[in-house]
Parts: sequence; C-alpha cells; structure tokens
Amino acid sequence: MRSSLFSACGALVLSAGALADATWSNYTYKTGPWQPPQLEVTKTGIVDPGLIFIPVRNSNTAGTAVTIYDNDGELVYQGPEEVTMDFKVQKLFGKNVITFWSGVPQIAGGYGYGTVHILDETYNEIYTITLTGDFQTASGEVRDSYIDVHEHIITPRNTIIVSAINVTQHDLSSAGGPTDGWMTVSQFYEIDIPTNKIVYKWDALEHQEGIPLSASKQAVQSGVSRETPWDCYHMNSVEATNEGFLVSMRFYWSAYYLNQNGTVRWQLSGADDNEGNFTGDNIRFSWQHHARIYNETDEAFILSVFNNANGQGQSQSETTGMAFEVDLTSMAGTLMYNVSDPNDPVYTQTQGSFQFLGAAATTSNLFMGYGSVPKVKEYDGAGKVVLSGQFDPLGHGESYRAFKESWTATPFWNPVAVAEKSLLSTTIYMSWNGATEYDNWAVYSVPSNSSNATTLLTTVERTGFETQAVVSTLNTTYVKVAARQGSTILRFSDAISV
Ligand SMILES: *[C@@H]1O[C@H](CO)[C@@H](O)[C@H](O)[C@H]1NC(C)=O
Ligand SMILES: *[C@@H]1O[C@H](CO)[C@@H](O)[C@H](O)[C@H]1NC(C)=O
Ligand SMILES: *[C@@H]1O[C@H](CO)[C@@H](O)[C@H](O)[C@H]1NC(C)=O
Ligand SMILES: *[C@@H]1O[C@H](CO)[C@@H](O)[C@H](O)[C@H]1NC(C)=O
Ligand SMILES: *[C@@H]1O[C@H](CO)[C@@H](O)[C@H](O)[C@H]1NC(C)=O
Ligand SMILES: *[C@@H]1O[C@H](CO)[C@@H](O)[C@H](O)[C@H]1NC(C)=O
Ligand SMILES: *[C@@H]1O[C@H](CO)[C@@H](O)[C@H](O)[C@H]1NC(C)=O
Ligand SMILES: *[C@@H]1O[C@H](CO)[C@@H](O)[C@H](O)[C@H]1NC(C)=O
Ligand SMILES: *[C@@H]1O[C@H](CO)[C@@H](O)[C@H](O)[C@H]1NC(C)=O
Repeated sequence: MRSSLFSACGALVLSAGALADATWSNYTYKTGPWQPPQLEVTKTGIVDPGLIFIPVRNSNTAGTAVTIYDNDGELVYQGPEEVTMDFKVQKLFGKNVITFWSGVPQIAGGYGYGTVHILDETYNEIYTITLTGDFQTASGEVRDSYIDVHEHIITPRNTIIVSAINVTQHDLSSAGGPTDGWMTVSQFYEIDIPTNKIVYKWDALEHQEGIPLSASKQAVQSGVSRETPWDCYHMNSVEATNEGFLVSMRFYWSAYYLNQNGTVRWQLSGADDNEGNFTGDNIRFSWQHHARIYNETDEAFILSVFNNANGQGQSQSETTGMAFEVDLTSMAGTLMYNVSDPNDPVYTQTQGSFQFLGAAATTSNLFMGYGSVPKVKEYDGAGKVVLSGQFDPLGHGESYRAFKESWTATPFWNPVAVAEKSLLSTTIYMSWNGATEYDNWAVYSVPSNSSNATTLLTTVERTGFETQAVVSTLNTTYVKVAARQGSTILRFSDAISV
C-alpha cells in the first residue's frame, strides 16, 4: 500500500514531523478533482521565469502528487495521487523530459522502493525504469522494483543512474558494532534507458579502503538486526562526472569523487577536522544532501551542497545552500556561496536540494527546496532572497527535493470545461492541466455533440489554472471551448451540454 504518511523514527532521513493540528488552504477547482496545497509566495526581487516543481508529500491526501506551480503560486500541473520524490526536468536524447520517482517509502530508514517515470512534453510516459535483482530487505518482503528514493539522474550518455539499498549481514566491529551485525549498503546502478538493462553497478561495501565503516558519523545503534540494520552511509546523491562519478554520503559529511572503476579518487569533507583531501577553513557542512559538481576540469571544479547542518543528535544550526570553488593543484577550496534567509532561518533535519538556475556563476539565481520543511526559496547571485514559498503547515507537507525548471508542455489530453447555469447566465469553467503554452480561451456554441460548426460566443484571458467565462444569452445545447495562444487554437475541449 502506498502511504502518504512517512513518519520519523530512528536514523531517519525522510520524515514527517509531529502531526500538528494544522490547517492549510487547498486549491479546489470546478473542472477536476485536483486539490494541491496552496503555495503562498512572497517575491522580493527579480525571479527566474521558470516553474516550481514540488513532489508534495504528507499534505492532504488529494494533494500528495507531483505538482508544478508558477511564480505566483498558481497551479500549473498536478499528477496522479501517489507518493513521489525528486520531480525535475532532464535532457534525454536532446529533448526535455520530466522525471520522478514513485513508490513505497520505508518508514524506518529513510529510503524506499520504487520506479522512475520519464514523461515527454505531452506528459506521455515514454519510459518506466525499474530495478530488479537479488536484493535483501529489512522486512524480507520482495519488491517489484528496488530503485531507492534518493537519486535518478540521466547522464550525458543518455543512460540513467539510480540509487539502491541492499540489506546485508556484515562484520561491524571496526565501527564498534557486532561481528554478525546487519547494515544497509548504498549502491548505485547505471541503466540503459530503452532496454532497462544494467550497464554498471557500484556497491559501497566493495570500497572500504576509500570509505571505511569506522569513519561513519552515524554510530552503530544497539540491537542491529536484519529488521533494524545500521544505516552506515546514507548515500543521497550520485551523478556522472568527466572521469567517473560524484556521490554524497550524508553520514560521512562528505562528497566522494569515484574513478570509473569505482575506487575513491578524492573526498571533500565538511567536517571541521582533517578529514578528506582538501584544505579550506570555510568548507564546513554536515548531514548534507544533493552534491553536484560544475565546471569540472583537470585543475579545478565547483561543488554545491544542500547543507542541512541538522541531523542525528547534532545541535541545530541554520540550513544553508553552499558552493565551493576547489583547486586540484593546491588541493584547497574557498567558499563561493553560503546562502540563507536572515529573516526566516530554516532548520531542515532531512532532505533538501540546492540548484544553480543557470551556469555555476555569480550571475545565476539559486533555488532551494527545504526538504522536511515545506518551504522553497530563490536567491539572486548576490545571495539575497527574491522568492519565498510555503506549501503546507510546518510539520506536515514536505518534498524530498524541489526545483525551478524551464518547462513547456502541451498535454496529450484535451482541455476540460464545466458549465454552471443560473437564472440569467451560464458560467463556463475551463482548465487544461499541465498546459503551459496557452494564454486565452474561446467559448463556442455547437449545434450538436459531434459537430465542428462552431459559433464564437466569447473569448477570455487565461487567469491561472482555471478560468471562468460568463455567457448571458445562451440558447444552445452544446458548448465547446478552445485553449488558444493569441488567435491560434491549440486544442478544443469535448462538447459539453449546457
Ligand atoms: C485540505 O484538504 C484536507 C483533506 O483533503 C482537509 O483535511 C483540509 O481541511 C483541507 N484544508 C482546507 C483549508 O480546506
Ligand atoms: C545483497 O546482499 C546479499 C547478502 O550479502 C547478497 O547475497 C546479494 O547478492 C546482495 N544483492 C545485491 C543486489 O547486491
Ligand atoms: C582505478 O582507477 C584509478 C584511476 O584511473 C587508478 O589509479 C587505479 O589504479 C584503479 N584501481 C584499480 C583497482 O583498478
Ligand atoms: C586523498 O587522500 C587519500 C588518503 O589520504 C589518498 O590516498 C589519496 O591519494 C588522496 N587523493 C588525492 C587526489 O590527493
Ligand atoms: C554559513 O551560514 C550559516 C548561517 O548564517 C553560518 O551559521 C555558518 O557559519 C556559515 N558557514 C560558513 C562556512 O561561513
Ligand atoms: C562556470 O562555467 C560557466 C559556463 O562556462 C561560466 O559561465 C561560469 O562563469 C563558470 N563559473 C566560474 C565560477 O568560473
Ligand atoms: C471535427 O474536427 C476534428 C479535428 O479537429 C476532426 O477529426 C473531425 O473529423 C471533424 N468532424 C467533422 C464532423 O467535421
Ligand atoms: C439566441 O437566440 C436568439 C433568438 O432566437 C438570437 O437572436 C440570438 O442570436 C441567439 N444567440 C446565440 C448566442 O446563439
Ligand atoms: C458526446 O459524444 C460522446 C461520444 O459520442 C459521448 O461520449 C459524450 O458523452 C457526449 N457528450 C455530451 C455532452 O453529450
């Protein structure tokens, strides 16, 4: 069963806070059952023109879905009701696609089992990625697909990398645990998209020389068993790099660069000691998510992280979006960004994302999804907040990651119209879930359900997700509406009887 409630316990990274008795406005519509939570937006500067992608979880049931909002907080698209993570635009074979994970989160452990969906610019699902194999689970249950919630990312070679968890019995004595202990092992797989075939596998336990169990900042809890395995690594991001891969290990406060053969080339640690390969007083982060590398050359690179700075047993400090410029000759790094909102400090225990809205340069805006805190914020290149949004009460809704994306779509489904009659007039409500390209509606009378002989009654500007038109002298049985861009008709609705 898909659970919309994802509550906290133990070594959790995906959690809901206490279920406070809070209410939040939902958007509701005449034209369909969509009921996303309202996104309350405050703008204080020049924002990027993209759309806001939030895979809403733990909101009202009907609001638990992949959701796209515009910069005014209006709904643009709501997908089917299901638990989803990591909803974003990627490039596949040169074209924009939207991708997301859906599946079953594991209540204790903060990971999950699911599939990855790849949709084209009409929202047609062109690929569904699954992962099967001889995985062991804590419950012993067999799953249809073992893709973990944390990562799915399309590479420049048009493959997809996904994260996975295997539960394994292992000697944990080097980390102070039992010799016959149990642990969750972080893995990632590179999969050929058209055939769904695995082309590469990486398993953290095979690289203990570079990532020793003893260096985990997550102490082995007592009573580890198959049902309650030790979460040693908590790998929460992966991406392909010029010469291998970059992974983020939350429980090592580190990003690791892996060679193509899987061995560790370097470790960039946020800990305030001598861990890792780089020096730099300002490379300080902890319990991070979403490590990404930019401008990679043989001499230097830029690395960004969502710096939770809050986690298992650690006293709270402010969550920030960080980027470092790192030199591979001197093996030293400097701070490029450490953004936060001075008027609204956020403390994100679990999840989160940090995104450059353009090249990794001080001319780009930055976008942050605050994970277990149902907020998003956009910063300008100087680090000043330009947009703040909240989509649920604190302790309720959350999103694993949230992104600002440039996305244009014309759905394969038609626009929908609904008529409400009153004594002297009829109001026509119109919407086209997910459509980004229309700016006005035309309302027509038609003599019969199947006729194309339209008589224009009125035109109205688009007003957000759902638009109304009032027709006062309606003496026809059927009405049709058309979503238009200027005077160009993009699509007709079916005829509705009025
Ligand atoms: C939002 O929807 C949920 C359930 O669907 C409901 O419990 C909640 O009261 C709604 N909020 C408002 C403000 O209507
Ligand atoms: C998971 O771990 C078990 C036990 O160590 C092993 O037999 C199995 O091959 C592993 N599965 C994968 C997919 O790595
Ligand atoms: C893995 O690749 C690196 C970089 O190419 C190389 O230095 C190292 O020797 C290789 N290790 C193994 C075990 O093949
Ligand atoms: C990183 O540090 C490890 C451990 O000290 C060392 O083996 C490795 O060569 C270093 N990598 C680089 C690129 O300096
Ligand atoms: C980053 O910003 C936070 C919040 O202002 C601050 O607590 C922290 O010390 C900063 N870190 C660095 C490395 O400057
Ligand atoms: C990173 O590369 C982009 C694109 O080439 C460039 O615009 C940007 O200035 C670079 N960033 C830095 C900090 O050099
Ligand atoms: C009405 O238009 C649709 C496409 O817009 C077309 O497929 C259909 O054949 C037309 N029907 C009639 C009766 O002209
Ligand atoms: C409705 O009917 C009246 C009288 O039959 C006619 O004058 C008028 O043009 C009709 N209106 C529409 C919108 O068809
Ligand atoms: C129009 O016709 C279609 C197919 O013939 C039918 O499914 C639909 O219910 C009709 N709509 C109305 C409003 O009569």
